[in-house]
Formats: sequence, C-alpha cells, structure tokens
Amino acid sequence: MMLLKGGDIIDPSGGLSGVADILINEEGFIENIGQDIETDEEDALIIDVSGLKVMPGLVDMHVHLREPGYEYKENIDTGLKAAAAGGFTTIVCMPNTSPVVDTRSTVRFIKERAGAAGLGNLYVAGAASKGLEGRDMAEIGDMVAEGIVAVTDDGKSIADASLMRRVLEYIKMFDIPFMVHAESPELAGAGVMHEGLVATTIGMPGIPAQAESVIVARDIELAELTGSRVHITHLSTESSLDYVRRAKAKGLKVTCDVTPHHLTMTDDAVMGFDTNTKVNPPLRPQRHVDAVIKGLQEGVIDAIASDHAPHAVHEKESSYIEAPFGMIGLETSLAVLITRLVRTGILTLEQLVAKLTIGPADVLGLDAGRLEVGAPADITVVDPDVMWTIDPNIFYSLGRNCPYAGWEVGGKVKYTIAGGKIIAKNGVVE
Ligand code: DOR
Ligand code: ZN
Repeated sequence: MMLLKGGDIIDPSGGLSGVADILINEEGFIENIGQDIETDEEDALIIDVSGLKVMPGLVDMHVHLREPGYEYKENIDTGLKAAAAGGFTTIVCMPNTSPVVDTRSTVRFIKERAGAAGLGNLYVAGAASKGLEGRDMAEIGDMVAEGIVAVTDDGKSIADASLMRRVLEYIKMFDIPFMVHAESPELAGAGVMHEGLVATTIGMPGIPAQAESVIVARDIELAELTGSRVHITHLSTESSLDYVRRAKAKGLKVTCDVTPHHLTMTDDAVMGFDTNTKVNPPLRPQRHVDAVIKGLQEGVIDAIASDHAPHAVHEKESSYIEAPFGMIGLETSLAVLITRLVRTGILTLEQLVAKLTIGPADVLGLDAGRLEVGAPADITVVDPDVMWTIDPNIFYSLGRNCPYAGWEVGGKVKYTIAGGKIIAKNGVVE
C-alpha cells in the first residue's frame, strides 16, 4: 500500500481538482481518492505530498528509443529511465529502428525488453510500409495482434497516395490511427531548416512550410475517403492547423499533436548554427508558433509529444547541412512547457496537463491519463516552483542533443509512480 497525503490534485480527465489523498493498493491500482484517507496497514508507505501537484502519469506518444540497431544513440533501458526522470509513465516508440519495426517479432522484442526494465509502460507504433520504404504494406495485422497502438512511417510521409489509401483502408478494422509525419519529399528536397528570411540570411537550404501542409491536406482528404483515423504528429504550421480545424469541424476522425520545441522556439535559434536546433519538421517563424499556441488554447490540438530523437555527439558535431535531424525532450518537456506556457499565462497548468495525459491517451485508446479509483496507479508529482538549469550532461538519455542547455526553467518532477511503484524520485531513477 502507498498513501499520497495532501497533494493538490489535477486530473483533467474527470475534472478532479483540489487537495486530496490517494491510496494505492498492492496490485498497483488506485484504491481510493478522498479526504483524510487512513491506512491501518503496518508497512504502508505514506508520503507527504502537500504543496505539490499530483497529476496522472504523463504520456508521450512520440519517442525514438533507437533499439534495435542504434543503441549507441539510445536504448530501451536508457530511454525508459529518461522518461521516468521526466515524469512520463507511458511512452510510445517509433518504428524507424534497424531492423524497422514492421513485423510481429520486432514488436515482441521491444515489448519484452521494456517489460524487463520495469520502468513504466511502453507501447509500440509499427511501420506502415515494409522497411519504411513506401512500397509495400508492413505486416500490420500481425503487429496489431502483438499490440501496436498506431502505424506510422515517421521520419517521412508515404509519398504514394494510393498506398496511403490502402493502408488507411486496412487499419480501419483495427481502429488504430495512422500517425502522419507530414512532409512532401519533393518540396522538402535537401532543405535543412525552414525556408524563409533566416534561411536566406544565413545561406541555408530551406524547407517550405507547404512541404508539410500539402501532405496534411492530402491525408485529411484520404481520411475522409476511407473513414479511417489520421493523426498528424508534430504539426508545425499555421496552414496545417487550419486543415485540421476544418477536418474536425466536418466530423472527420482527425487528431494532432505538437512538440514543445515548435511551441517555444523559432527559426531564429538556427542563426548560431547549433546543430541541436536541426529538427524535422524545422523550427518555424513566430507566425507559426503563434498559430500552434492558439490551436492549443482553442483545443484543436489534442496532445503535446516530445519527438524525443536522440543522436550521438559525434553525429551532431558536424556541419549544419550534414548533422541528422532531431533533438531530445523526455527530460525537459514538462519544465520547458510549464515555464514557457503556464508561467506566462498562455495555458493553465490543468490545460497543459490535459495535453500530456488524457489527450494522447484518448488518441491512442490507452488505459492511461486518468486519476480515478480502479485506474492503474500511474502518477506524477510535481513541484512547479522549483527552478533549475538544464544541463544535458546529467541526463539519463544517451542523447546530448538538447537545444535548451543552459535554460533556467521552473517545475521539477518529485515522484514518478508507475503501476503503484516509485520509478523515479527527485530526478533519480529508483
Ligand atoms: O527530427 C526528427 N528526427 N524528425 C523525424 O521525423 C525523425 C527523427 C529521428 O528519427 O531522428
Ligand atoms: Zn519522430
């Protein structure tokens, strides 16, 4: 038994808020929530969480764990540790590994590894096309039987619209979404950052915003054609958001997420040629940042996901042109978002927590993201007032490609509890 006493509860799923105690049973589920709960059990662990925010365990629906194949960048164990330290009890890993997650056995391998780590819940997104090559459909039915929660060719779009249509038709019977990385390969070309004033000024090849929005438009059209579920991941432009807003108004099964970096940085950050700012989709000008922030406030955006994309130091220590796309996020997302969105009054803490818990859980149909009696005891306890300086050198992630190094942020994870077990305390994984 574990008893969390006197925390300030934030549960956007049920609108629960205010000071209460939470009792967790031996099976790892929430036994009771209420005032002045007592336990007569001798060896119950009683934790005083008064003055702290108690929220559902955070959910990150877009994470790259790099195992199998690129364990020098990250592995399942280090990725889950980074998640635990960052307050995430549920994460979803992307299939662009080696081998690609396009068969049942690879899904099983990842789930077994995660089970052995015992650090929260790991769900798998399977590839939509074999080898992410955009030619033939992956073994989607088999992977669904092994528990995948979405399909995606993340890292790229399926260029062939007819294959995209067939995949959408096929996944309809499983009621899982296609997570779309929206990028027209032809329009993106060899670009390395957003095409605009900054790219022109510093002489870098650009990727136009339309490389994203033309695919968003196409895949929303195909969502309408097929009646299937389409989730636009790491949406980053004003126009993409307009398409999603319209699709939702029409009643299509279209959802989307944005990343912390597209909410808090602009392409100005590329000016210093820090390769940690190289990410796909690229950082955008303020106009697009304002649009996605508005989308969050209006509720058009369902979730915030990190797109945690670790790369090795030697890979990022190259020219801006050559460096790989991607930045890490698991250990910084919550504090960066509290600092830049909540402390500034853009969102309430409750609105932010919704986008990091029930929002993504609902998109993927996961049993996560709510604090209620009978739910798994996945709980994150946060002190929103603690200030700290981001130092990537002390991360659990093997990635050091963090664009926020040196940022002063507010909000520290005090406890991460998964399945009734403390998996991280004060930033230290148990
Ligand atoms: O920046 C990115 N990195 N964007 C992607 O879509 C893929 C990811 C990666 O795998 O490194
Ligand atoms: Zn990704």
